[in-house]
Amino acid sequence: MQALILAGGKGTRLRPLTVYTPKPIVPFLNRPFLLYQIEILRRAGIENITLSLSYQPDKIEDILGDGSDYGVNLRFITEPSPMGTGGAYKFAASDIRETTIVFNGDILTDLDISKVVEFHKSKKAAATIVLVPVENPSAYGLVETDPEGKVLRFREKPKPEELDELTTNTINAGVYILEPEVLDLIPKGENYSFEYNVFPDLLSNQKVFYAYIMQENYWRDIGNPASYLQGHHDFLSGKIKGFEIGKSAKAEISHTAFVDKTSLIAEDCIIKPNARIFNSVIGRGVLVEEKAIIENSVVWSHTRISSNAEISGAVIGRSCYIGKNAVVSKGAVLGDKTSLTDYTKI
Ligand code: GDD
Ligand code: MG
Repeated sequence: MQALILAGGKGTRLRPLTVYTPKPIVPFLNRPFLLYQIEILRRAGIENITLSLSYQPDKIEDILGDGSDYGVNLRFITEPSPMGTGGAYKFAASDIRETTIVFNGDILTDLDISKVVEFHKSKKAAATIVLVPVENPSAYGLVETDPEGKVLRFREKPKPEELDELTTNTINAGVYILEPEVLDLIPKGENYSFEYNVFPDLLSNQKVFYAYIMQENYWRDIGNPASYLQGHHDFLSGKIKGFEIGKSAKAEISHTAFVDKTSLIAEDCIIKPNARIFNSVIGRGVLVEEKAIIENSVVWSHTRISSNAEISGAVIGRSCYIGKNAVVSKGAVLGDKTSLTDYTKI
């Protein structure tokens, strides 16, 4: 069994963070995001993982290397142009033809994949899709099942008027187990989508198509800034368990500065006297000057926060400069190298 991570999207909704950093490797708790997916695959004994890339592939390959640092073998496949989710699977897996676990590359979850594999085998399914209940299903792929878990209907991003006639709130969690026969439904060399094409095709061809419904595990798509930030808060407050987040980095923190217990400070940071940091993640080599306040925020590496600046509920990219007494308020998302003049309020 092998895994394929779909990591070729442009990350448009996460802009400006994804202008210089493709979504699969945006720092999450100061580590490239895909490491969390690689970790849960490795835990389930899946060591051969292919990354299906299209946008800024070299950056992803450079950061993750051959996977040996993480106990897996990584293979990278780059599409000449984006082929859609199903097309990317055909492009990457057609020469392998073995059971494949497919992952959307922006899903944060602590799902136990071995349980899904067990379920898939017990149903002798051609395809198994993991579902998760959510409050507002309109931004996702809505999936209706019968009481035994057989998939009855798949509707990608239903319109508000369609939602009324749908009777469920379980959505596609972006994790599938597929047998090679699914490859035969996908035309070669064409742009093809799991959501709009392959899943409806499975149903019309009466393939054995089952859904595994997640019950207790954590799940989130981190593909927009608010969700990316919320994922950090969920981690810091202990809602996601079982991942090492290494709290013992070597940073220089003044004895009159205050950093609360939930915050995470990476190595080579300098936190100056009377600065205060609450419920935030601070990347490597960040300088926080006197009396600056950072709360409920994520700050990427090598950014400088000048004295008396106040940052609240924001995501600040790499190598930014936040001037003295500047105020960055809730919901702000600053791309790499943003510079804010002293006293700016946003
Ligand atoms: N290689 C490759 N090629 N990857 C792609 C392509 C492509 O052409 N298009 C998208 N991807 C990757 C993205 O990088 C991402 O990891 C994943 O496929 C899903 O794309 P998104 O753009 O994030 O889709 P979404 O979030 O709107 O919807 C999908 O995920 C939802 C769960 O978060 C759908 O699968 C929904 O049905 C699902 O509910
Ligand atoms: Mg997504």
